Amino acid sequence: MSRFPTGAATPAAIIDALKAVAGDPPKVRASFAKGRCVRGTYAASDRAVEITKSRSFTRPSRVLARFSVGGGDPEMADTDNFVLRGFSFRLGGDGHRSDILVQSAPVHFARTLDQMLAYLRVRMPGPGGKPDMRKVRPFSATNPETLHQASYIAAHPPPRSFADIVYWGVHAFPATNAKGETRFIKFKVVPVGAEVAQTKDEVKAKSVDFLHDDLETRIAAGDVRFNVMALLDCPGDPTMDVTVRWPDEDHREAIRLGTIVITGIEADEVCDVSIFDPANLADGIGHPPDEIFAARSEAYAISLAKRR
Ligand code: HEM
Repeated sequence: MSRFPTGAATPAAIIDALKAVAGDPPKVRASFAKGRCVRGTYAASDRAVEITKSRSFTRPSRVLARFSVGGGDPEMADTDNFVLRGFSFRLGGDGHRSDILVQSAPVHFARTLDQMLAYLRVRMPGPGGKPDMRKVRPFSATNPETLHQASYIAAHPPPRSFADIVYWGVHAFPATNAKGETRFIKFKVVPVGAEVAQTKDEVKAKSVDFLHDDLETRIAAGDVRFNVMALLDCPGDPTMDVTVRWPDEDHREAIRLGTIVITGIEADEVCDVSIFDPANLADGIGHPPDEIFAARSEAYAISLAKRR
């Protein structure tokens, strides 16, 4: 039974809109439809315990993960510079698993579910197969925060590899340590080694699957590694608005919780049989308080039911 009143921007309505924007391809994820399942390991840092008592983050474990390209179209070209890249991972052992989903921008494109639904509806393709810019432009003018994500992507050069991207958890997560101290953190997942971006022209010359094709070589070379960082909150941070960054976020104190090493490609079915569920968090990392987060778990379950 949904917690959302009938007629409101429910998770189901948002899934329908995501599917419609993507042209309704059957049996695929409503979002981040194109991707590759991988496996790896997580090793905790000594300092993780200062931030969280979560057994997912303070102990070593195996990792199931998936790299992806945003949008609901499984044929999306990896050379498209204006879509998000995603990275979902599950860490922790039996009884204390956590699913963390991060993307290549530090903000979401809508502050509320109503705004998210409206954003998607104005982008539904018209008879020509493209969104009607006469609807998109006035919506953007009156909802300028819905462009923050696209502006961030446009301002950053396209990635050369899934292994070169800085990924963000976007929401403010309450983290509690063994002393019972709770504070908000944001997840930032940073490649180990330099982030090497390429120019737009270099990307154009690549194949439509280059990000996916590159993974195997990178994994064999042992250089798909990420530090999982916790950015620490300050008083007054906007913890309810996922369209804005925290003030001075790039210079925040950050603690390394641990390091993920991707060690192999998994059969895609292993990731496809279930969802990476944002609400699946072991004790020590709580649910972010914003309304976008509250809708995600139900939305992912609906998407799973539709793609089965
Ligand atoms: C209300 C807001 C959101 C909705 C309704 C939504 C919806 C979805 C749906 C339906 C899927 C496909 C699930 C499946 O079939 O397995 C998905 C996947 C994903 N979402 Fe979201 N999403 C939202 C916000 C976000 C945010 C803020 C982030 C970034 C932190 C994010 C990152 C991802 C990633 C990385 C995937 C790929 C999961 C995978 O690899 O299986 N989403 N999203």
